[in-house]
Amino acid sequence: MKQVFDLVIFGGTGDLSMRKLLPAMYRAYHQGHCSEDSRILVCCRKPSDFEVLPERIEEALKTFLDAEEFDSSRCNAFMSIVEPVMLDLTNLEQGWTQFSDLFEGREEYIRLFYLAVMPSIYGACCENLSTKNLITPNSRIVVEKPLGYDLDSAEKINETMARYFQEEQIYRIDHYLGKETVQNLLALRFGNFLFENIWDSKAIEHIQISISEQVGLEGRAGFYDEAGAMRDMVQNHLLQLLCLVAMESPNKLRAEDVRVEKIKVLRALKPILPEDMESSVVRGQYVSGQIDGEKVPGYLDELESYQSNTETYVAIKTFIENWRWAGVPFYLRTGKRLKKRSAEIIVQFKNVTHNVYGSKEKNLEPNRLIIQLQPEEKIQLVLMAKAIGEHGEKKSENEDLSSSLESKENLKPITLNLDFSQESIPFKSSAYQRLLIDAIHGNSTLFIHRDEVRAAWKWVDPIIESWKSSAVPPEFYSAGSWGPTKANELFEKREQSWINIAENKTSTGK
Ligand code: BG6
Repeated sequence: MKQVFDLVIFGGTGDLSMRKLLPAMYRAYHQGHCSEDSRILVCCRKPSDFEVLPERIEEALKTFLDAEEFDSSRCNAFMSIVEPVMLDLTNLEQGWTQFSDLFEGREEYIRLFYLAVMPSIYGACCENLSTKNLITPNSRIVVEKPLGYDLDSAEKINETMARYFQEEQIYRIDHYLGKETVQNLLALRFGNFLFENIWDSKAIEHIQISISEQVGLEGRAGFYDEAGAMRDMVQNHLLQLLCLVAMESPNKLRAEDVRVEKIKVLRALKPILPEDMESSVVRGQYVSGQIDGEKVPGYLDELESYQSNTETYVAIKTFIENWRWAGVPFYLRTGKRLKKRSAEIIVQFKNVTHNVYGSKEKNLEPNRLIIQLQPEEKIQLVLMAKAIGEHGEKKSENEDLSSSLESKENLKPITLNLDFSQESIPFKSSAYQRLLIDAIHGNSTLFIHRDEVRAAWKWVDPIIESWKSSAVPPEFYSAGSWGPTKANELFEKREQSWINIAENKTSTGK
């Protein structure tokens, strides 16, 4: 059933709103998710922004939607539910009375307040909403990751929000959880008998989770230099993916059941102590290089600074200390200005216990399950199969057939493909779209609970602390490479290394 809703975007003229939220809602509107009376209130502070807001939104939609999704008449139809609002979030005297008048007679509708603003003004904003009696039982607040800067600051933000909203009304977004393949990962794990029996340390050798980006600072130098890859990507996106791969089956796919299982994983993560840093963590920073043939500046040039130890790349080896995963390394990696944009989870299975095809030292390639989130959304299973046209011929009647097949060359890896590309669908759906619609419907399964935020910071903070007290600078890597070569030294076995699916070969570093 379609719910009537008022979506309020605080920080409506900002990057997140223009780049992600409004395009997501345009798609949602054209896919029939917005009932007639619903509204999107886009808030801005300056009169100069207010006057040109409709044109700016149209421009943003044109820029950030795919060409086939945008046209003027569709845009006009969407704009019929969009309303620009002028409001100073922190000053109750500036626009709040007119703003609250907009909700008269709409008390029973869903209200979604999206705080696309700096966490430092969450408090004032919530307080003003409360003073104006705008927080109804049907109201929800949506906030972005990373929540806070460390455990303490995250707790403070959570306490502030908790003064005005119940935990069930707080939706903490991690847009990676809205990606199609992430949901398919859950379907794969919990909708198939096949995988459950081999989803543990008995069958799995190791798991790699990588998010590589080609982009650099994208105009966010101030934020990024404070945050670094650890806070920007690992504390949230990578740990959330890790949770979904490693968690036990929840009783139901209800928010509270999924949350309990994810928290168990986060709490079971082996702490990385200062003495483990060398063997478990590599931090890197890019210097100038080339990406797809284009010269790109180094991090310090982009930052316009002479010195910064901020990591633009992190690789980590970690373990989950529980029955299912004892001894299985989880390798996490993310970086900016890498060779290709790609995000994937690779589950590498153990080798066959006895190789009937070749001499002992020649191992067969292990089976791999590859869950790719981007650039394409697909799941692949890599198996060994007989190479077509390779016949093992018996030289004599008495010879065992296996001896003439006794060469690894007779086998080769083949890939079973499950492709979720949406080429035939006129409107694509984005992660933000799914999550916004879920929030409107009150489904918080793919959102982060306060306890998860807490557990994630508890694991991440000591790593950042170790860096702070260390004199060792980040490893430098050239833009356009796969990151510091040192990251391959994290692997437990010499023959193993990072697998770069986007290139279809294993990484050899720079
Ligand atoms: C955001 C980070 O959460 O995720 C950005 O703040 C990063 O630094 C982005 O670029 C990556 O998202 P995606 O969906 O493009 O992989």
